[in-house]
Amino acid sequence: MQEVNPELVKYATLTIPGHDPIQLPVLKGTMGPEVIDIRALGKQGYFTYDPGFVSTAACSSRITFIDGPKGVLLYRGYPIDQLANKANYLQTCYLLLKGDLPTKEQYEHFEYEVKHHTLIHEQITSLFKAFRRDSHPMAIMCGIAGALSAFYHDNLDIYDPEHREKTAIRLIAKMPTLAAMAYKYSIGHPFVYPKNDLSYAGNFLHMMFATPCEDYKVNPVIERAMDKIFILHADHEQNASTSSVRLAGSSGANPYACIAAGIASLWGPAHGGANEACLRMLEQIGSIDRIPEFIARAKDKNDPFRLSGFGHRVYKAYDPRAVVMRETCHEVLNELHIKDHPILDVATELEKIALSDEYFIERNLYPNVDFYSGIILNAIGIPTSMFTVIFALARTVGWIAHWTEMQEMPESRIGRPRQIYVGKTLRQVKAMQRRKK
Ligand code: SDX
Repeated sequence: MQEVNPELVKYATLTIPGHDPIQLPVLKGTMGPEVIDIRALGKQGYFTYDPGFVSTAACSSRITFIDGPKGVLLYRGYPIDQLANKANYLQTCYLLLKGDLPTKEQYEHFEYEVKHHTLIHEQITSLFKAFRRDSHPMAIMCGIAGALSAFYHDNLDIYDPEHREKTAIRLIAKMPTLAAMAYKYSIGHPFVYPKNDLSYAGNFLHMMFATPCEDYKVNPVIERAMDKIFILHADHEQNASTSSVRLAGSSGANPYACIAAGIASLWGPAHGGANEACLRMLEQIGSIDRIPEFIARAKDKNDPFRLSGFGHRVYKAYDPRAVVMRETCHEVLNELHIKDHPILDVATELEKIALSDEYFIERNLYPNVDFYSGIILNAIGIPTSMFTVIFALARTVGWIAHWTEMQEMPESRIGRPRQIYVGKTLRQVKAMQRRKK
């Protein structure tokens, strides 16, 4: 079925004692639940209340569809496992941005555009030097991404489709360069410039691991695994960081500054920071015999500890990305001849125990995208502190695709949620000497 506009299918009647019944339109999209359009409620003197937006559709979108109970993830209608196994990340970027997979000619043009925007303005290299060497690379990425708006603010008309397209290309192209620079800076190595004769993933690995003393030979299995990790992280509907980008963008802010907002939100351990937190958790567990202790902690309401890499706001089944990630994990460990990887053994046993435990079963808690990704990145030699940076690199296309869609949607307006106020009622200021404790 082709894309549709939300269709009015029926009306819901809201009955509030002492108030005339309120008719609310019920809308239907291409797939997924029907939505109750509550836009008229404000004029009737009511707000809805939904902390965390558990039951709130903040926008209409054509980009990504998730069926949480069934564990389905589609990018523009294509299943994530098919894209991971039959396409590559740049084809997926084209798909997310333009709505269809590219033909050979379209792909070659798109790839040329991206490859010829991988360099960053040389002055930005000095910005890195303003950070302490031991800064968390996500702190650096927040700062540098925001700084890009200083370099492109003037020649960027967000209402000009060509400017928007150029911005998308620039961001997709430059994020790997900036991510690798954040890593190189943290280990005191010189920055490695991009090479246009390498693939997108190969170029990233090259910028991460080459040095002036010796080049880096890209291993095709590792290159493919890296590309799949980028695909699996490319977009995910209205998650916290994408919603942050949309809300920032709704004011007309510079898209580079909006991406910085997305990076900041992604950093949290409840979101993109979970891949780093998950590997540290697996290392802390250390051995299979300590798993019961951590399972008990995860179930203890008085203990803030949660199993990182487990659970999801939307998926109430196995995260389809985790399925592909687990397969890729075994491919990488086999290619690198890593036999008994202690962390993988702990992860495998932890998953098995958790999935048979009543607490996790009744709450539909399954491994998510972050559960296996850290093991792959660790095996490739990428430090734990860089895991969320790689998530941000890959998710940039999703962020900018949603930012672009919002600019193109006529219904878009500045996001301005309301609240239920529970503070002090009106009171008068007293002179200091008359105030009591
Ligand atoms: C990402 O939104 C997206 O799409 C995000 C993402 C993307 O691609 O953009 O998919 C990427 O962020 C994946 C999630 C990564 N986060 C983690 O792995 C951190 C660990 N997971 C949890 O913090 C939690 O599961 C969340 C944050 C992911 C979801 O939180 P919700 O939807 O608010 O669920 P909840 O906190 O209400 O949990 C429901 C119940 C609670 O128990 P009860 O109060 O019902 O007794 O499940 C429990 C929670 O305590 N629970 C967990 C748990 N996750 C939820 N208990 C132990 N370990 C966990 N991991």
